[in-house]
Order: sequence, then structure tokens, then C-alpha cells
Amino acid sequence: MSKLKVVSIFGTRPEAIKMAPLIKALEKEKDFESKVCVTAQHRDMLDQVLRLFNIVTDYDLNIMKERQTLFQITTSVLTGLEEVFKKENPDLVLVHGDTTTTFVAALAAFYNKIKIGHVEAGLRSFNKWFPYPEEINRKLTGVLADLHFAPTPKAKTNLLKEGVSEDSIFITGNTVIDAMAYTIKKDYVFRDERLNKIDYENKKVIVITAHRRENWGKPLENICNALKDISLEYGNKVYIVYPVHMNPVVRETVFNILGGLDNVLLLEPLDTDEMHNLMARCYMVMTDSGGLQEEVPFLGKPVLVLRDVTERPEAVEAGTVKLVGTAYEKIYKEASILLKNKEEYDRMANAVNPYGDGKASFRIVQAIKYVFGLTGIKPEEYKSGG
Ligand code: UD1
Ligand code: UDP
Repeated sequence: MSKLKVVSIFGTRPEAIKMAPLIKALEKEKDFESKVCVTAQHRDMLDQVLRLFNIVTDYDLNIMKERQTLFQITTSVLTGLEEVFKKENPDLVLVHGDTTTTFVAALAAFYNKIKIGHVEAGLRSFNKWFPYPEEINRKLTGVLADLHFAPTPKAKTNLLKEGVSEDSIFITGNTVIDAMAYTIKKDYVFRDERLNKIDYENKKVIVITAHRRENWGKPLENICNALKDISLEYGNKVYIVYPVHMNPVVRETVFNILGGLDNVLLLEPLDTDEMHNLMARCYMVMTDSGGLQEEVPFLGKPVLVLRDVTERPEAVEAGTVKLVGTAYEKIYKEASILLKNKEEYDRMANAVNPYGDGKASFRIVQAIKYVFGLTGIKPEEYKSGG
């Protein structure tokens, strides 16, 4: 029997991190022919992940442009994939999450009548504009997909409410927890010497990331001004580490406001093993990222989310993640509470992990085999979560 040909398509850093364990799992299967196509919506930040996980690509559309628009990403991915599908004609295309690469790759597969598997399906903020354009990207991908790999029970419920057939949904856990099994090490030594030198015992180390499109401009200025005032108020008691996203729109604001402060370390994007091990050692995290909201609860650190709504409510309900929005006063106040109030800190610093058990990739592979008739055994659903 011929092998089942699966083409995994992704383009940005978070998609690559979360697809990496699945690609490794697919490569081990004798019944599959696994191909990887990157759009390179991100270039350097994608290549960092490909190197770390030793992923070899079969196709690289190399689309990234400086300050690219949504229109540019959409049209170049769509055009680029026409050739790839013509050549490969796969049995299944796998996409991940909610980026513009995700949606457009699903659309291109649909135009070619190729089956689509959506990894990390069913997350919803129920607000069209937050996160923008990701909420709609994920929803549209869900409309196009044939198989939905929902990370949590809540994500499955969201899909069922939208009329997705139950047979096509598999609760798998999130593959990011699989990725962390690969990156996090107890005796990890950083390649960046500056991270080895930080006094994690005696300073409250705050890790920051912020890049979202809807936060560009005033919201990101508020975030940076609040961080600046925290750094000035708490002096050598805190140390702020901010690996800055490569987007020039983000960098301008961040470097203007936070550059030159003694207790603020502005870094280039970190390799993911460096980032994960830094978060494992820090005091707390402040972020507008989606992925960090899943990773940090697993590490038992409080997370202040610099957004008004989230499509990842499970850890908010568990109490380790708090939505604080993007108003200066609120960010300053909530960060101060965690820096001063031990009781509140301890209440939030509980390791909870509603997002996975490290077996998500295994379940996704089993589900694909089941759907394509390569096994009669349906994978067991991932149970915990919201
Ligand atoms: C994209 C995704 C977002 C995801 C984020 C993860 C969309 C619309 N947005 O947003 O969902 O959360 O990635 O980080 O799909 N750049 C570089 N080098 C890189 C990467 C980016 O220089 O390796 C710069 C380029 O100037 C590029 C800009 O950043 O034009 C923006 O990249 P883009 O992918 O459009 O948006 P992100 O904000 O990264
Ligand atoms: N990350 C990284 N290096 C960094 C910052 C983040 O490897 O300098 C990782 C982080 O641990 C998480 C992912 O990148 O796994 C999150 O990506 P990002 O914030 O770009 O996108 P989002 O999750 O918001 O879509």
C-alpha cells in the first residue's frame, strides 16, 4: 500500500515551535510520507526554531518582506502554494493555529480539494478584533478543515457549538507541552552569558514579550511606560528581561521607551530553549503572546496578560493567568501587587497545566491513522482542562 502523504505547512515562530514535535512524530511513522513546507512569513525567527528542532524543509516560499501587510502575506502564500500542491498532491495538509499563513494554507488546500487537519483548533475569544486578525484566521481555518485537533475540552465545545461534526474533532492536548519536554532542562546552561549572570535568587526577574498588531501604537506605549516606571520604582530589586520581537513597528516603541535603563535587558529574540529555560527561572511573566499563556502556567509562574480578552481562558479560570489589559495604571498596579504581596503571588504561582500532557503529537498521529483507516483504534481523548 502506498504511504499517506502529509504536507505540514507553517510560517511563523509559534507555529514552528508547536508543529515541531508533530513533525518529529510523523517522521517516525512508516505508513506516512511527511513533507514540510514553510512559507517563511517569519524568516530569522522561523529559522531559529527549524535549527533547534533539526527540521529539514522540502519547500520554502521565502515570502517575508519588511513591514509586510496582511495583503502581501495572503497573496504571496496563496500563489506560492499553488505550485507546491500541483507537485505533491498530498492526502492531507496540516496547518497550525491562527496566523495568516494558517488560514491561507487551508484556503489553498481547499481550492485543491485536499483534506485539511487543523492543529490547535477551536480556541475562541468571541471578539472579531481581539486578537486581530487571529480570531478570524482561526475561525475561517475551522470552516475549511476536515479534521480538528482541539487542545482542550473547551475548544471542542466551541467547535460543536458552531456545528462542526463530533466525529471530526479530537481532543489532543497542546503540542507546546510536547515541545517543552524537549527544551526544558533542570541544569540548563544558557548560551547567552548575560542570562547565566542574572541573580535569579535575589532579584525579581520579570520576563516580557509583546508584539500583537492590536497593541501597536498607544497600547504598546502604555505597556512600555508602565514597565519603565516599575523599573525605576523597584530599582535593583527587579530585573526586566525583554526579548524584543523583530517587527520594526514593535522595536521602535520598545527601544525608545525602555532603552538605556540599568535594570532592563532588551534582547534579540531568544532561541526557544533559552526562552523556555529563562521563563522556568524567572519570578513572573508579562505578555500579550498566545503561546506564553500556555507555557508559563506549566512552569508555575504568574502571568499578567496585556490584553483585554483571551482565547485561552483555561489558565485564567485556574488562577495563574490574569488579564490586565493595556491601560498604564492597571498594568502598573497589577505588577506592583505581584511584586509586593507575597500572598497574592503565592496564590497565582501554582503550577497548573490545563493545556496538555506531552502526548498531543502522538494523539494527532493516531487520529490521522484512524481517519485514514490505518488503525481501528481511536486515540483516547486528552482529559484535563477547562
Ligand atoms: C505574526 C502573526 C501572529 C503571531 C506572530 C508570532 C499574522 C497576521 N500574524 O505576527 O499571529 O502571533 O507572528 O510572532 O499572521 N520580522 C523580521 N524577521 C522575522 C520575523 C518578523 O524581520 O523573523 C519583521 C518583518 O519586518 C515583518 C514584521 O516583522 O514584516 C511582521 O511580521 P508578521 O508575520 O507580518 O507579523 P507578526 O507581528 O510577526
Ligand atoms: N519565544 C521564543 N523566543 C523569544 C520569545 C518567544 O522562542 O524570544 C517563544 C515562546 O516561548 C513561545 C512562542 O515563541 O513558544 C510564542 O511566540 P510569539 O509570542 O511570537 O507568538 P504568539 O504565541 O503570540 O502567537
